[in-house]
Amino acid sequence: MLNIKTIKQLRVDIKRWRMAGESIAFVPTMGNLHAGHLQLVQTAKQQADRVVVSIFVNPTQFNEQDDFTNYPRTIDADVEKLQSAGVAMLYMPEREEMYSCEVHTKVSVRTVTEIHCGASRPGHFDGVATVVCKLFNIVQPDKAFFGEKDFQQLLVIRTMVADLNCPVDIIGIATFRETDGLAMSSRNNHLTKEERRQGAYLYQTLCSAKQAVLEQQASFAEIEKTSLQALSEKGFIPDYFSICRRHDLRAAAIGDTQLIILAAARLGSTRLIDNIQLELIL
Ligand code: PAJ
Repeated sequence: MLNIKTIKQLRVDIKRWRMAGESIAFVPTMGNLHAGHLQLVQTAKQQADRVVVSIFVNPTQFNEQDDFTNYPRTIDADVEKLQSAGVAMLYMPEREEMYSCEVHTKVSVRTVTEIHCGASRPGHFDGVATVVCKLFNIVQPDKAFFGEKDFQQLLVIRTMVADLNCPVDIIGIATFRETDGLAMSSRNNHLTKEERRQGAYLYQTLCSAKQAVLEQQASFAEIEKTSLQALSEKGFIPDYFSICRRHDLRAAAIGDTQLIILAAARLGSTRLIDNIQLELIL
């Protein structure tokens, strides 16, 4: 596996692969890799000749300096995992290369970023869209892979790619879970033993809400309220729990069929997000 730090170096190898007619798949990450990330890598491998993975803990998408500083960094273990997974190139830029002293441009996707995580974390999705746009321009992949765990992020990227005509196919990958249902996440490392046990309840609540919607047990608003209460009773501090239309993440109404339930909640100092998709047959 090539371990590349600079754009200049990266371009030499990408050009060589392109000259040989090879296709390139890209998986952007912030490191501290787990089986969810590796699922993206495995799927990417099946769909292209070369897989490029980036690790960059992007400062502009963090709302709190502490969260950025404490973000788990496990480079040696990450390198080993990517090597065994058959990744062709790891791109790990320095902060100075991604953001030189003065930055004048940012990518800001409107509408879909104004709700849910966008409302709770002002500027977060500008940071994500800008860094992903930069990474796309650097790597110039044919396809890029993103997890459905961060469903709103996936929609932000799809919107950016459509609006700016970025020449890349965006592939969404189903959420990879621990055996008790907790969505794998680098932030799970911050949970205490007790919080880790409680954490599984977020997905259980999503599953119960899905069942309630499918069986029309109550209105969407009532199901959301019951779910928020259930999370609070289990020790979470819920941020949102919303039954939405999948295509734009706006509140679902009667007659909508392609739905997703999005949830975010804090356990202690750790913010967890998760979602579940469902389809209503009218
Ligand atoms: P990070 O949290 O490292 O996630 C990298 C990719 O892995 C994202 O596309 C995310 O949705 C996916 N992922 C994380 N946990 C997953 C799981 N349990 N199952 C499936 N996929 C999962 O998301 C980011 O980094 C950053 O915002 C980034 C896009 C790299 C921009 O900085």
